[in-house]
Amino acid sequence: MTGIVLGKGSGGRAAGGRPVGSTNALTKSLFIRTYGCQMNAYDSGRMADVMTPHGYRLVAEPADADLILLNTCHIREKAAEKTFSELGRLRQLKELRASAGRRTLVAVAGCVAQAEGAELQARAPFVDIVLGPQTYHRLPELVAQVERRAGAVLDTEFPAESKFDHLPDGSSASTASAFLAVQEGCDKFCTFCVVPYTRGAEYSRPPASILAEARALLSRGAVELVLLGQNVNAYHGAAGGETWSLARLIDALAELPGLQRLRYTTSHPLDMGDDLIARHRDCAKLMPYLHLPVQAGSDRVLTAMNRRYRRADYERLVERLRLARPDLALSGDFIVGFPGESDADFAETMDLVRRIGFAQAYSFKYSPRPGTPAAILPGQVPAPVKAERLAALQSLLAEQQRRFNAASVGLTVPVLFEGAGRRAGQSVGRSPHNQSVHVEASCPPGSIRPVRLTASLANSLSGRLAG
Ligand code: SAH
Ligand code: SF4
Ligand code: F3S
Repeated sequence: MTGIVLGKGSGGRAAGGRPVGSTNALTKSLFIRTYGCQMNAYDSGRMADVMTPHGYRLVAEPADADLILLNTCHIREKAAEKTFSELGRLRQLKELRASAGRRTLVAVAGCVAQAEGAELQARAPFVDIVLGPQTYHRLPELVAQVERRAGAVLDTEFPAESKFDHLPDGSSASTASAFLAVQEGCDKFCTFCVVPYTRGAEYSRPPASILAEARALLSRGAVELVLLGQNVNAYHGAAGGETWSLARLIDALAELPGLQRLRYTTSHPLDMGDDLIARHRDCAKLMPYLHLPVQAGSDRVLTAMNRRYRRADYERLVERLRLARPDLALSGDFIVGFPGESDADFAETMDLVRRIGFAQAYSFKYSPRPGTPAAILPGQVPAPVKAERLAALQSLLAEQQRRFNAASVGLTVPVLFEGAGRRAGQSVGRSPHNQSVHVEASCPPGSIRPVRLTASLANSLSGRLAG
Protein backbone atom coordinates (compact mmCIF):
# COMPACT_ATOMS: atom_id res chain seq x y z
CA MET A 1 0.00 0.00 0.00
CA THR A 2 1.28 3.39 -0.72
CA GLY A 3 1.16 5.81 2.05
CA ILE A 4 -0.80 8.51 0.35
CA VAL A 5 -3.42 6.15 1.03
CA LEU A 6 -6.31 5.52 3.28
CA GLY A 7 -4.92 2.83 5.55
CA LYS A 8 -6.32 -0.64 5.49
CA GLY A 9 -8.51 -1.29 8.45
CA SER A 10 -8.44 2.36 9.38
CA GLY A 11 -11.37 3.92 11.14
CA GLY A 12 -12.77 5.26 7.91
CA ARG A 13 -12.53 8.80 6.67
CA ALA A 14 -14.46 11.48 5.00
CA ALA A 15 -13.62 11.19 1.38
CA GLY A 16 -12.82 12.28 -2.03
CA GLY A 17 -12.28 15.91 -2.96
CA ARG A 18 -12.51 19.14 -1.05
CA PRO A 19 -15.43 19.44 1.35
CA VAL A 20 -17.33 22.68 1.43
CA GLY A 21 -18.33 24.21 4.73
CA SER A 22 -21.91 25.02 3.92
CA THR A 23 -24.34 24.64 1.07
CA ASN A 24 -26.91 26.99 -0.35
CA ALA A 25 -30.51 26.12 -1.13
CA LEU A 26 -29.75 25.00 -4.69
CA THR A 27 -27.00 22.57 -3.81
CA LYS A 28 -27.46 19.37 -1.89
CA SER A 29 -24.83 18.05 0.42
CA LEU A 30 -23.07 14.72 0.28
CA PHE A 31 -20.96 13.08 2.97
CA ILE A 32 -18.89 10.01 2.10
CA ARG A 33 -17.08 7.80 4.59
CA THR A 34 -14.60 5.37 3.09
CA TYR A 35 -13.34 2.11 4.58
CA GLY A 36 -10.89 -0.39 3.16
CA CYS A 37 -8.46 -0.22 0.29
CA GLN A 38 -7.18 2.40 -2.16
CA MET A 39 -9.69 1.22 -4.73
CA ASN A 40 -12.45 2.23 -2.34
CA ALA A 41 -10.82 5.64 -1.88
CA TYR A 42 -10.73 6.07 -5.66
CA ASP A 43 -14.33 4.85 -5.99
CA SER A 44 -15.50 7.35 -3.36
CA GLY A 45 -14.01 10.14 -5.45
CA ARG A 46 -15.79 8.82 -8.53
CA MET A 47 -19.12 8.62 -6.71
CA ALA A 48 -18.67 12.24 -5.63
CA ASP A 49 -17.94 13.07 -9.30
CA VAL A 50 -21.07 11.28 -10.50
CA MET A 51 -23.25 13.25 -8.07
CA THR A 52 -21.72 16.66 -8.86
CA PRO A 53 -23.80 17.30 -12.01
CA HIS A 54 -26.88 16.58 -9.89
CA GLY A 55 -26.13 19.47 -7.56
CA TYR A 56 -24.35 17.56 -4.80
CA ARG A 57 -21.33 19.03 -3.02
CA LEU A 58 -19.14 17.25 -0.49
CA VAL A 59 -19.41 18.26 3.16
CA ALA A 60 -17.11 17.33 6.01
CA GLU A 61 -19.74 16.26 8.57
CA PRO A 62 -22.54 13.70 8.25
CA ALA A 63 -24.82 15.96 10.30
CA ASP A 64 -24.78 18.48 7.41
CA ALA A 65 -25.55 15.94 4.69
CA ASP A 66 -28.68 15.29 2.64
CA LEU A 67 -27.05 12.13 1.34
CA ILE A 68 -24.73 10.02 3.48
CA LEU A 69 -22.75 7.35 1.71
CA LEU A 70 -20.72 4.62 3.39
CA ASN A 71 -18.21 2.97 1.09
CA THR A 72 -17.56 -0.27 2.89
CA CYS A 73 -15.00 -3.09 3.13
CA HIS A 74 -15.68 -6.77 3.72
CA ILE A 75 -12.15 -8.13 3.73
CA ARG A 76 -12.05 -9.14 7.40
CA GLU A 77 -14.82 -9.50 9.97
CA LYS A 78 -13.65 -6.39 11.83
CA ALA A 79 -13.79 -4.30 8.67
CA ALA A 80 -17.34 -5.41 7.93
CA GLU A 81 -18.46 -4.81 11.54
CA LYS A 82 -17.46 -1.17 11.25
CA THR A 83 -20.26 -0.71 8.74
CA PHE A 84 -22.85 -1.93 11.17
CA SER A 85 -21.61 0.15 14.10
CA GLU A 86 -21.50 3.24 11.88
CA LEU A 87 -25.05 2.49 10.72
CA GLY A 88 -26.20 2.50 14.36
CA ARG A 89 -24.93 6.08 14.69
CA LEU A 90 -26.44 7.10 11.35
CA ARG A 91 -29.90 5.84 12.32
CA GLN A 92 -29.89 8.25 15.27
CA LEU A 93 -28.61 11.05 13.09
CA LYS A 94 -31.29 10.43 10.49
CA GLU A 95 -33.99 10.54 13.18
CA LEU A 96 -32.55 13.70 14.65
CA ARG A 97 -32.50 15.44 11.26
CA ALA A 98 -36.05 14.18 10.54
CA SER A 99 -37.30 15.76 13.78
CA ALA A 100 -35.85 19.05 12.48
CA GLY A 101 -37.75 18.53 9.21
CA ARG A 102 -34.72 17.52 7.15
CA ARG A 103 -34.74 14.41 5.04
CA THR A 104 -31.54 12.32 4.94
CA LEU A 105 -30.83 9.54 2.49
CA VAL A 106 -28.42 6.83 3.62
CA ALA A 107 -26.63 4.77 0.98
CA VAL A 108 -24.30 1.83 1.55
CA ALA A 109 -21.86 1.04 -1.24
CA GLY A 110 -18.78 -1.15 -1.52
CA CYS A 111 -17.96 -4.71 -0.67
CA VAL A 112 -20.26 -5.17 2.37
CA ALA A 113 -23.14 -3.94 0.23
CA GLN A 114 -22.23 -6.47 -2.44
CA ALA A 115 -21.76 -9.39 -0.04
CA GLU A 116 -24.51 -8.70 2.48
CA GLY A 117 -26.95 -6.41 0.71
CA ALA A 118 -30.13 -8.23 1.69
CA GLU A 119 -29.01 -8.81 5.29
CA LEU A 120 -28.06 -5.18 5.50
CA GLN A 121 -31.52 -4.09 4.46
CA ALA A 122 -33.08 -6.45 6.99
CA ARG A 123 -30.82 -5.30 9.84
CA ALA A 124 -30.94 -1.61 8.94
CA PRO A 125 -34.28 -0.87 7.24
CA PHE A 126 -33.63 2.88 7.37
CA VAL A 127 -30.90 2.43 4.73
CA ASP A 128 -32.35 3.83 1.50
CA ILE A 129 -29.86 2.60 -1.08
CA VAL A 130 -27.61 -0.44 -1.26
CA LEU A 131 -25.30 -0.54 -4.25
CA GLY A 132 -22.44 -2.82 -5.19
CA PRO A 133 -19.04 -1.77 -6.59
CA GLN A 134 -20.09 -2.33 -10.21
CA THR A 135 -23.14 -0.06 -10.18
CA TYR A 136 -21.74 3.27 -8.94
CA HIS A 137 -22.62 4.95 -12.20
CA ARG A 138 -26.27 4.31 -11.36
CA LEU A 139 -26.14 6.21 -8.07
CA PRO A 140 -27.93 9.35 -9.37
CA GLU A 141 -30.73 7.19 -10.79
CA LEU A 142 -31.05 5.26 -7.50
CA VAL A 143 -31.19 8.51 -5.52
CA ALA A 144 -33.88 9.82 -7.88
CA GLN A 145 -35.87 6.58 -7.52
CA VAL A 146 -35.81 6.80 -3.74
CA GLU A 147 -36.78 10.46 -3.83
CA ARG A 148 -39.73 9.62 -6.10
CA ARG A 149 -41.18 6.65 -4.30
CA ALA A 150 -39.67 6.84 -0.84
CA GLY A 151 -38.95 3.08 -0.78
CA ALA A 152 -35.51 1.48 -0.38
CA VAL A 153 -33.58 0.18 -3.43
CA LEU A 154 -30.88 -2.41 -3.89
CA ASP A 155 -28.58 -2.69 -6.90
CA THR A 156 -25.84 -5.27 -6.54
CA GLU A 157 -25.88 -6.52 -10.10
CA PHE A 158 -22.78 -7.18 -12.14
CA PRO A 159 -24.09 -5.31 -15.20
CA ALA A 160 -22.93 -6.16 -18.70
CA GLU A 161 -21.84 -2.57 -19.28
CA SER A 162 -18.71 -1.29 -17.54
CA LYS A 163 -19.25 1.45 -15.00
CA PHE A 164 -16.09 3.09 -16.37
CA ASP A 165 -17.94 3.82 -19.62
CA HIS A 166 -20.75 5.54 -17.74
CA LEU A 167 -18.92 7.62 -15.16
CA PRO A 168 -17.94 11.23 -15.90
CA ASP A 169 -14.75 11.63 -17.94
CA GLY A 170 -12.23 10.47 -15.39
CA SER A 171 -11.57 11.26 -11.79
CA SER A 172 -11.73 14.92 -10.81
CA ALA A 173 -9.07 14.48 -8.11
CA SER A 174 -6.60 17.35 -7.90
CA THR A 175 -3.80 16.03 -5.74
CA ALA A 176 -0.06 15.83 -6.43
CA SER A 177 -0.34 12.06 -6.29
CA ALA A 178 -3.52 10.64 -7.79
CA PHE A 179 -5.07 7.19 -7.89
CA LEU A 180 -6.05 5.81 -11.26
CA ALA A 181 -7.97 2.51 -11.46
CA VAL A 182 -6.76 0.44 -14.40
CA GLN A 183 -8.09 -2.96 -13.44
CA GLU A 184 -10.72 -4.32 -11.13
CA GLY A 185 -11.84 -7.69 -9.81
CA CYS A 186 -9.90 -10.89 -9.39
CA ASP A 187 -9.91 -14.40 -10.82
CA LYS A 188 -7.40 -15.86 -8.40
CA PHE A 189 -9.79 -17.16 -5.74
CA CYS A 190 -7.39 -17.40 -2.84
CA THR A 191 -9.35 -19.58 -0.43
CA PHE A 192 -9.48 -16.92 2.31
CA CYS A 193 -10.54 -13.95 0.21
CA VAL A 194 -13.88 -12.29 -0.55
CA VAL A 195 -12.63 -10.02 -3.35
CA PRO A 196 -13.47 -12.31 -6.30
CA TYR A 197 -17.05 -12.41 -4.98
CA THR A 198 -17.45 -8.76 -4.05
CA ARG A 199 -15.63 -7.20 -7.01
CA GLY A 200 -16.34 -9.89 -9.57
CA ALA A 201 -14.29 -11.20 -12.45
CA GLU A 202 -11.06 -9.54 -13.53
CA TYR A 203 -11.69 -6.56 -15.83
CA SER A 204 -9.05 -4.36 -17.47
CA ARG A 205 -9.96 -0.87 -18.68
CA PRO A 206 -8.97 -0.10 -22.27
CA PRO A 207 -5.69 1.88 -22.50
CA ALA A 208 -7.38 4.79 -24.31
CA SER A 209 -9.72 5.56 -21.41
CA ILE A 210 -6.89 5.19 -18.87
CA LEU A 211 -4.65 7.55 -20.87
CA ALA A 212 -7.46 10.10 -21.15
CA GLU A 213 -8.02 10.02 -17.39
CA ALA A 214 -4.26 10.25 -16.80
CA ARG A 215 -4.01 13.37 -18.99
CA ALA A 216 -6.89 14.97 -17.12
CA LEU A 217 -5.30 14.22 -13.74
CA LEU A 218 -1.96 15.65 -14.90
CA SER A 219 -3.67 18.77 -16.21
CA ARG A 220 -5.13 19.29 -12.72
CA GLY A 221 -1.72 19.18 -11.09
CA ALA A 222 -0.96 15.50 -10.48
CA VAL A 223 2.68 14.60 -11.01
CA GLU A 224 2.46 11.06 -9.67
CA LEU A 225 -0.04 8.40 -10.71
CA VAL A 226 -0.72 5.32 -8.61
CA LEU A 227 -2.23 2.66 -10.86
CA LEU A 228 -4.78 0.64 -8.96
CA GLY A 229 -6.22 -2.81 -9.33
CA GLN A 230 -7.13 -5.67 -7.01
CA ASN A 231 -4.66 -7.66 -9.07
CA VAL A 232 -3.08 -4.85 -11.03
CA ASN A 233 -0.30 -6.78 -12.74
CA ALA A 234 -2.89 -9.10 -14.30
CA TYR A 235 -3.78 -6.04 -16.41
CA HIS A 236 -4.47 -6.89 -20.05
CA GLY A 237 -6.22 -4.01 -21.78
CA ALA A 238 -7.68 -4.30 -25.27
CA ALA A 239 -6.40 -1.67 -27.72
CA GLY A 240 -7.60 -2.30 -31.27
CA GLY A 241 -6.55 -5.84 -32.09
CA GLU A 242 -3.81 -5.81 -29.46
CA THR A 243 -3.61 -6.59 -25.78
CA TRP A 244 -1.53 -4.30 -23.61
CA SER A 245 0.26 -5.62 -20.54
CA LEU A 246 0.81 -3.43 -17.49
CA ALA A 247 4.40 -2.90 -18.68
CA ARG A 248 3.17 -1.50 -21.97
CA LEU A 249 0.68 0.73 -20.22
CA ILE A 250 3.50 2.02 -18.00
CA ASP A 251 5.55 2.85 -21.11
CA ALA A 252 2.68 4.88 -22.58
CA LEU A 253 1.94 6.68 -19.31
CA ALA A 254 5.62 7.48 -18.72
CA GLU A 255 5.62 9.52 -21.93
CA LEU A 256 2.82 11.83 -20.90
CA PRO A 257 4.07 15.39 -20.38
CA GLY A 258 4.05 16.39 -16.72
CA LEU A 259 4.18 12.88 -15.33
CA GLN A 260 7.12 12.46 -12.94
CA ARG A 261 6.36 9.33 -10.96
CA LEU A 262 4.48 6.07 -11.39
CA ARG A 263 3.52 3.39 -8.89
CA TYR A 264 1.16 0.42 -9.08
CA THR A 265 -0.62 -1.70 -6.51
CA THR A 266 -1.54 -4.50 -5.64
CA SER A 267 0.35 -7.21 -7.47
CA HIS A 268 0.14 -10.98 -7.36
CA PRO A 269 3.51 -12.76 -7.55
CA LEU A 270 2.21 -15.08 -10.27
CA ASP A 271 1.47 -12.20 -12.66
CA MET A 272 4.88 -10.53 -12.38
CA GLY A 273 5.82 -10.79 -16.07
CA ASP A 274 9.35 -10.47 -17.47
CA ASP A 275 8.41 -7.20 -19.17
CA LEU A 276 7.16 -5.72 -15.90
CA ILE A 277 10.31 -6.78 -14.07
CA ALA A 278 12.34 -5.16 -16.86
CA ARG A 279 10.43 -1.87 -16.40
CA HIS A 280 11.81 -1.67 -12.87
CA ARG A 281 15.24 -1.53 -14.52
CA ASP A 282 14.43 0.64 -17.54
CA CYS A 283 11.69 3.06 -16.56
CA ALA A 284 13.15 5.88 -14.43
CA LYS A 285 9.66 7.17 -13.58
CA LEU A 286 8.63 3.85 -12.04
CA MET A 287 9.42 4.27 -8.35
CA PRO A 288 11.66 1.68 -6.64
CA TYR A 289 8.92 0.36 -4.37
CA LEU A 290 6.73 -2.68 -4.85
CA HIS A 291 3.87 -4.06 -2.81
CA LEU A 292 4.04 -7.79 -3.45
CA PRO A 293 1.95 -9.78 -0.96
CA VAL A 294 3.32 -13.23 -0.12
CA GLN A 295 0.82 -14.10 2.69
CA ALA A 296 2.81 -17.00 4.21
CA GLY A 297 6.16 -18.77 4.12
CA SER A 298 5.09 -22.40 4.31
CA ASP A 299 4.41 -24.27 1.08
CA ARG A 300 1.74 -26.33 2.79
CA VAL A 301 -0.12 -23.16 3.80
CA LEU A 302 0.44 -21.47 0.45
CA THR A 303 -1.11 -24.49 -1.28
CA ALA A 304 -4.10 -24.49 1.07
CA MET A 305 -4.50 -20.77 0.37
CA ASN A 306 -4.50 -21.50 -3.38
CA ARG A 307 -1.76 -18.92 -3.92
CA ARG A 308 -0.34 -21.07 -6.73
CA TYR A 309 3.33 -20.38 -5.99
CA ARG A 310 5.79 -21.86 -3.55
CA ARG A 311 8.00 -20.01 -1.16
CA ALA A 312 11.04 -20.66 -3.39
CA ASP A 313 9.19 -19.10 -6.37
CA TYR A 314 8.61 -15.92 -4.36
CA GLU A 315 12.25 -15.82 -3.27
CA ARG A 316 13.44 -16.27 -6.86
CA LEU A 317 11.07 -13.56 -8.06
CA VAL A 318 12.40 -11.11 -5.47
CA GLU A 319 15.93 -12.00 -6.53
CA ARG A 320 15.10 -11.19 -10.15
CA LEU A 321 13.40 -7.94 -9.17
CA ARG A 322 16.42 -6.92 -7.12
CA LEU A 323 18.74 -7.77 -9.98
CA ALA A 324 16.66 -5.46 -12.18
CA ARG A 325 16.47 -2.72 -9.53
CA PRO A 326 18.95 -3.23 -6.69
CA ASP A 327 17.44 -0.53 -4.47
CA LEU A 328 13.86 -1.83 -4.78
CA ALA A 329 11.98 -1.50 -1.47
CA LEU A 330 9.57 -4.36 -0.90
CA SER A 331 6.29 -4.30 0.92
CA GLY A 332 4.04 -7.26 1.64
CA ASP A 333 0.83 -8.61 3.12
CA PHE A 334 0.81 -11.52 5.58
CA ILE A 335 -1.89 -13.68 7.12
CA VAL A 336 -1.18 -15.58 10.32
CA GLY A 337 -3.30 -18.41 11.71
CA PHE A 338 -4.67 -19.69 8.42
CA PRO A 339 -6.54 -22.99 9.11
CA GLY A 340 -4.06 -25.79 9.72
CA GLU A 341 -1.07 -23.45 10.21
CA SER A 342 1.26 -25.18 12.69
CA ASP A 343 4.07 -23.64 14.74
CA ALA A 344 6.49 -25.01 12.16
CA ASP A 345 4.52 -23.41 9.29
CA PHE A 346 4.53 -20.08 11.09
CA ALA A 347 8.28 -20.40 11.72
CA GLU A 348 8.65 -20.60 7.93
CA THR A 349 6.86 -17.26 7.54
CA MET A 350 9.24 -15.70 10.09
CA ASP A 351 12.18 -17.22 8.28
CA LEU A 352 11.01 -15.94 4.90
CA VAL A 353 10.61 -12.43 6.32
CA ARG A 354 14.15 -12.55 7.74
CA ARG A 355 15.55 -13.70 4.40
CA ILE A 356 13.69 -11.20 2.21
CA GLY A 357 13.75 -8.06 4.36
CA PHE A 358 10.67 -5.86 3.97
CA ALA A 359 10.75 -2.08 4.01
CA GLN A 360 7.10 -2.02 5.00
CA ALA A 361 4.31 -4.55 5.49
CA TYR A 362 0.74 -5.26 6.51
CA SER A 363 -0.10 -8.33 8.58
CA PHE A 364 -3.40 -9.73 9.72
CA LYS A 365 -4.93 -12.54 11.75
CA TYR A 366 -6.82 -14.89 9.50
CA SER A 367 -10.50 -13.94 9.57
CA PRO A 368 -12.96 -16.60 8.33
CA ARG A 369 -15.22 -15.03 5.70
CA PRO A 370 -18.64 -16.57 5.03
CA GLY A 371 -18.81 -18.28 1.66
CA THR A 372 -15.05 -18.64 1.19
CA PRO A 373 -13.58 -22.16 1.09
CA ALA A 374 -11.13 -21.63 3.98
CA ALA A 375 -13.91 -20.66 6.40
CA ILE A 376 -15.02 -24.28 6.65
CA LEU A 377 -11.59 -25.92 6.64
CA PRO A 378 -10.73 -28.04 9.66
CA GLY A 379 -7.91 -26.89 11.95
CA GLN A 380 -9.12 -23.33 12.61
CA VAL A 381 -6.41 -21.76 14.76
CA PRO A 382 -7.45 -20.57 18.26
CA ALA A 383 -7.58 -16.79 18.73
CA PRO A 384 -4.79 -16.59 21.35
CA VAL A 385 -2.42 -18.49 19.05
CA LYS A 386 -3.21 -16.10 16.18
CA ALA A 387 -2.63 -13.14 18.48
CA GLU A 388 0.73 -14.48 19.63
CA ARG A 389 1.89 -15.16 16.07
CA LEU A 390 0.75 -11.77 14.86
CA ALA A 391 2.61 -10.02 17.68
CA ALA A 392 5.81 -11.91 16.84
CA LEU A 393 5.52 -11.20 13.11
CA GLN A 394 4.65 -7.54 13.60
CA SER A 395 7.57 -6.99 15.90
CA LEU A 396 9.93 -8.48 13.29
CA LEU A 397 8.37 -6.43 10.48
CA ALA A 398 8.48 -3.23 12.55
CA GLU A 399 12.15 -3.85 13.29
CA GLN A 400 12.84 -4.29 9.55
CA GLN A 401 10.99 -1.08 8.75
CA ARG A 402 12.94 0.78 11.45
CA ARG A 403 16.21 -0.52 10.04
CA PHE A 404 15.23 0.36 6.49
CA ASN A 405 14.35 3.92 7.48
CA ALA A 406 17.43 4.33 9.67
CA ALA A 407 19.62 3.26 6.75
CA SER A 408 18.19 6.17 4.72
CA VAL A 409 19.42 8.79 7.17
CA GLY A 410 22.28 10.77 5.63
CA LEU A 411 21.05 10.22 2.05
CA THR A 412 19.77 13.02 -0.17
CA VAL A 413 16.64 11.93 -2.03
CA PRO A 414 14.06 13.63 -4.29
CA VAL A 415 10.86 14.17 -2.29
CA LEU A 416 7.52 14.76 -3.95
CA PHE A 417 5.63 17.18 -1.71
CA GLU A 418 1.95 16.51 -1.18
CA GLY A 419 0.83 19.10 1.34
CA ALA A 420 1.31 20.87 4.64
CA GLY A 421 2.47 18.98 7.72
CA ARG A 422 0.85 19.04 11.15
CA ARG A 423 2.96 21.93 12.40
CA ALA A 424 2.87 25.39 10.85
CA GLY A 425 5.55 25.86 8.21
CA GLN A 426 6.06 22.12 7.79
CA SER A 427 5.61 20.22 4.49
CA VAL A 428 5.13 16.48 3.94
CA GLY A 429 6.02 14.39 0.96
CA ARG A 430 7.21 10.99 -0.20
CA SER A 431 10.61 9.60 -1.01
CA PRO A 432 10.99 7.31 -4.04
CA HIS A 433 10.80 4.43 -1.53
CA ASN A 434 7.38 5.66 -0.43
CA GLN A 435 8.62 6.84 2.95
CA SER A 436 6.80 9.79 4.44
CA VAL A 437 9.24 12.73 4.77
CA HIS A 438 8.76 15.98 6.77
CA VAL A 439 10.71 19.17 6.27
CA GLU A 440 10.47 22.47 8.15
CA ALA A 441 9.86 24.52 5.02
CA SER A 442 7.01 25.47 2.81
CA CYS A 443 7.09 23.41 -0.40
CA PRO A 444 4.17 23.63 -2.84
CA PRO A 445 2.24 20.40 -3.45
CA GLY A 446 3.51 18.76 -6.63
CA SER A 447 7.06 20.10 -6.26
CA ILE A 448 9.93 17.61 -6.17
CA ARG A 449 12.94 18.81 -4.17
CA PRO A 450 16.14 17.15 -3.00
CA VAL A 451 15.99 16.50 0.74
CA ARG A 452 18.80 15.41 2.99
CA LEU A 453 17.30 12.90 5.42
CA THR A 454 18.39 13.73 8.95
CA ALA A 455 16.39 11.50 11.31
CA SER A 456 14.12 8.48 11.19
CA LEU A 457 11.02 8.21 13.36
CA ALA A 458 8.69 5.21 13.78
CA ASN A 459 6.84 5.59 10.46
CA SER A 460 8.48 8.55 8.79
CA LEU A 461 11.66 10.52 8.26
CA SER A 462 12.58 14.13 8.72
CA GLY A 463 14.98 16.07 6.57
CA ARG A 464 16.25 19.42 5.29
CA LEU A 465 15.93 20.86 1.81
CA ALA A 466 19.20 20.31 0.02
CA GLY A 467 18.79 22.64 -2.93
N1 SAH B 1 -5.00 -8.12 -4.18
C1 SAH B 1 -5.73 -7.33 -3.24
C2 SAH B 1 -5.71 -7.91 -1.90
C3 SAH B 1 -6.87 -7.35 -1.19
S1 SAH B 1 -6.97 -7.95 0.30
C4 SAH B 1 -5.41 -5.89 -3.21
O1 SAH B 1 -5.62 -5.21 -4.17
O2 SAH B 1 -4.96 -5.32 -2.19
C5 SAH B 1 -5.58 -7.23 1.12
C6 SAH B 1 -4.95 -8.21 2.06
O3 SAH B 1 -5.88 -8.55 3.06
C7 SAH B 1 -4.55 -9.51 1.44
O4 SAH B 1 -3.33 -9.44 0.76
C8 SAH B 1 -4.48 -10.41 2.63
O5 SAH B 1 -3.22 -10.35 3.28
C9 SAH B 1 -5.51 -9.80 3.58
N2 SAH B 1 -6.71 -10.63 3.67
C10 SAH B 1 -7.58 -10.96 2.70
N3 SAH B 1 -8.54 -11.79 3.16
C11 SAH B 1 -8.27 -12.00 4.48
C12 SAH B 1 -8.87 -12.77 5.51
N4 SAH B 1 -9.94 -13.52 5.28
N5 SAH B 1 -8.32 -12.72 6.74
C13 SAH B 1 -7.22 -11.97 6.99
N6 SAH B 1 -6.60 -11.25 6.05
C14 SAH B 1 -7.11 -11.25 4.82
FE1 SF4 C 1 -7.96 -11.83 -2.92
FE2 SF4 C 1 -6.11 -13.51 -3.77
FE3 SF4 C 1 -7.44 -11.99 -5.52
FE4 SF4 C 1 -5.69 -10.80 -3.86
S1 SF4 C 1 -5.20 -12.35 -5.45
S2 SF4 C 1 -7.75 -10.13 -4.33
S3 SF4 C 1 -5.90 -12.06 -2.01
S4 SF4 C 1 -8.30 -13.62 -4.26
FE1 F3S D 1 -12.19 -4.27 1.17
FE2 F3S D 1 -13.44 -4.63 -1.08
FE3 F3S D 1 -11.15 -3.31 -1.03
S1 F3S D 1 -13.32 -6.06 0.57
S2 F3S D 1 -10.07 -4.34 0.62
S3 F3S D 1 -13.04 -2.68 -0.09
S4 F3S D 1 -11.83 -4.69 -2.64
